[in-house]
Amino acid sequence: MKFFIDTANLDQIREAQDMGILDGVTTNPSLMAKEGISGEQNILNHYVDICNIVDGDVSAEVISTEYNDMIQEGEKLAQLHENIVVKVPMIKDGVKAIKYFSDKGIRTNCTLIFSVGQALLAAKAGATYVSPFIGRLDDISTDGLNLIDEIRTVYDNYVFETQILAASVRHPMHIIDCAKIGADVMTGPLSAITALLKHPLTDIGLEKFLADYKSVNG
Ligand code: G3P
Repeated sequence: MKFFIDTANLDQIREAQDMGILDGVTTNPSLMAKEGISGEQNILNHYVDICNIVDGDVSAEVISTEYNDMIQEGEKLAQLHENIVVKVPMIKDGVKAIKYFSDKGIRTNCTLIFSVGQALLAAKAGATYVSPFIGRLDDISTDGLNLIDEIRTVYDNYVFETQILAASVRHPMHIIDCAKIGADVMTGPLSAITALLKHPLTDIGLEKFLADYKSVNG
């Protein structure tokens, strides 16, 4: 399973990259706003800065909701860097835009996926990735991981090449469960990724190894 980090924070992207486990980055307008990135040129520059840190796919989201505007915006984003994946919302014009981008060889990430039917439409249109938001489904007492499982079944039935990018991951168990189900990619915050490191027996064991070494070596 590929590990993407879901942030526009350059320090966090660098930290994940330095660990050697980062395969890509996802952003969205909310994450860009959280970093205080505003104005078209600043936003475009920020995407390039992210691409220069990570050697992997970087999702950059269109803010247009009308087909022609999405095409114009997406083509501009795709020209920024070879690693840019155009992120498109799951709406009717978005599906049409994904088909256009797919035919032109521009990679896409269909975002705001909350049902199997939406994931099926995105795959039919040729999306490179679909992003089911598991945390937000959990937030409304619906099983987000079950959606990943169902999409996996449907995609495997027809050998769709669209990759399942589990998004809105909130904690380490989401990551582990996504890996068990067979999501192709997960994107989450740095905190969820680094939480995978933790086990009290690792800390206790390491402390004892170091103490035993010191007891005979001074
Ligand atoms: O990748 C989608 C993600 O940014 C949404 O996460 O935590 O806002 O539901 P969250």
